Amino acid sequence: MKLIVEKDYEEMSKKAAGILVEEIKNNPSITLGLATGSTPVGMYKEIIKRYKKEELDFSNVKSVNLDEYVGLDGSSPSSYRYFMNENLFDHINIDKANTHVPDGKADDLEVSTKKYDKLIDDIGGVDIQILGIGTNGHIAFNEPAGELSVGTSVVDLTENTISDNARFFDTMDEVPKTAITMGIGSILKAKKIILLASGENKKEIIKRLLESDTVSTELPASFLLLHPDVTVIVDEAAYKG
Ligand code: GLP
Repeated sequence: MKLIVEKDYEEMSKKAAGILVEEIKNNPSITLGLATGSTPVGMYKEIIKRYKKEELDFSNVKSVNLDEYVGLDGSSPSSYRYFMNENLFDHINIDKANTHVPDGKADDLEVSTKKYDKLIDDIGGVDIQILGIGTNGHIAFNEPAGELSVGTSVVDLTENTISDNARFFDTMDEVPKTAITMGIGSILKAKKIILLASGENKKEIIKRLLESDTVSTELPASFLLLHPDVTVIVDEAAYKG
């Protein structure tokens, strides 16, 4: 695992955006694995800035997102589809038909999870995957548990994650308790992975991750230790506190 420590959130975002932009320039038909949450917002802003300034072309770029809340569709401002449109897709020349987010309102959620893994395989897999990390060590919505799913699955969110996510909803009752998430195996299939973390509340989990020399389903992010090309980009607050 390669570690890059940047001064602050802005520098962390610029660093990550710079890596993505280079990858897109080198491969205009790239498949990006994208993440939601507060952490990647600055990176998306920077990508949009560079798209407007430079000749970046997303017309052949494809994307797959990590996860979505069960029960929400793209019209809900709290859905991850809505988040992606607002924070990135509406500002670049990506073809929305090439952007994929799990369907939180699928009639048959189990079938939709299988379809999502097939879709990722059919488009040739993810070239570069962006990840955030939950304060409990989850990646995407793979929560600490006795077992972790290999492929995309429907998961119950932990109390910790429900309370972390409450800030995106008006009331506690509205915070979804279940989600569809790419599995650890689906994530590890990406050719390259970048994990971002910012702020003091991530310091403890980043320390645990960086000090791990075993993998544990109780620390889902530890499975990244099995991948040959992971870069962790953090700001000083998430590293030194
Ligand atoms: C959610 C998302 C994760 C994200 C995590 C951290 O649980 N499913 O993909 O990494 O939040 O979010 P934040 O970046 O807001 O701390």
